[in-house]
Amino acid sequence: MKNKLIIANWKSNPIKRNDGEKLLKNLVQTIKTNNKVIICPPTIFLSHFLNLFSPYFQFGVQNCYSKDKGPYTGEISPKMVQDIGCKYVIIGHSERRSLFNETDEDINLKLIEILNTTKITPILCIGESREERAQKKTYSIIKQQIKSDLKNVDKNKIKNIIIAYEPIWAIGTGIYAHEQEIVDAKNSIVKILCDIYGDIGRKIRIVYGGSVNAQNIESILKNADMNGVLVGGASLKPKEFSFIANFK
Ligand code: PGA
Repeated sequence: MKNKLIIANWKSNPIKRNDGEKLLKNLVQTIKTNNKVIICPPTIFLSHFLNLFSPYFQFGVQNCYSKDKGPYTGEISPKMVQDIGCKYVIIGHSERRSLFNETDEDINLKLIEILNTTKITPILCIGESREERAQKKTYSIIKQQIKSDLKNVDKNKIKNIIIAYEPIWAIGTGIYAHEQEIVDAKNSIVKILCDIYGDIGRKIRIVYGGSVNAQNIESILKNADMNGVLVGGASLKPKEFSFIANFK
């Protein structure tokens, strides 16, 4: 099994920087792995964590804006993210799409800005809702998201993207996609990418997210052979997250 990407999405947790620091100290002691561990904490704590923990982990942000600088109160740009030493950015998470009304067009502009102005790796989240799955629309939803989110993205830059298949019904619910559902989604994503980009489509890394835990990690990384996982809730539990990160 090749080395995997283990991405921690802390979302808006924890409230205290000190608690995040304690969690990372614990993980430094317990994670011994060749997998690539990427921590995405709240942006406000990032510089501090980067100073202390960059020898041990890679870091990423959970969002950014589609402009490099200017009058955009409250936003941070991909260049700023790169400047502080972050190498990854999560884009188009379903919580951003649903709670903050992010559209595929917004996501597309962000991806283009990231890829054109920095060396940061975007982690693009896509996935269907419960209703869409029930109506057997998973393939068409994934296809529509990939097509619009990657519109006009330079073919030479496409390999730098990581795609996170995150079915919305599995996020934070404790209900996770089964092995066959994950394999089917992965095959659909590869087919859609190859239809657009040719063989390069096969080189794009695809990770799974949605209620990943210590019990299902083997089925996702080994049996479904995903390139990695995007972990929300379980990434805040030190014992569980080290088990996931150490998986081989
Ligand atoms: P979860 O979140 O692991 O808590 O389901 C995953 C995500 O939102 O990326």
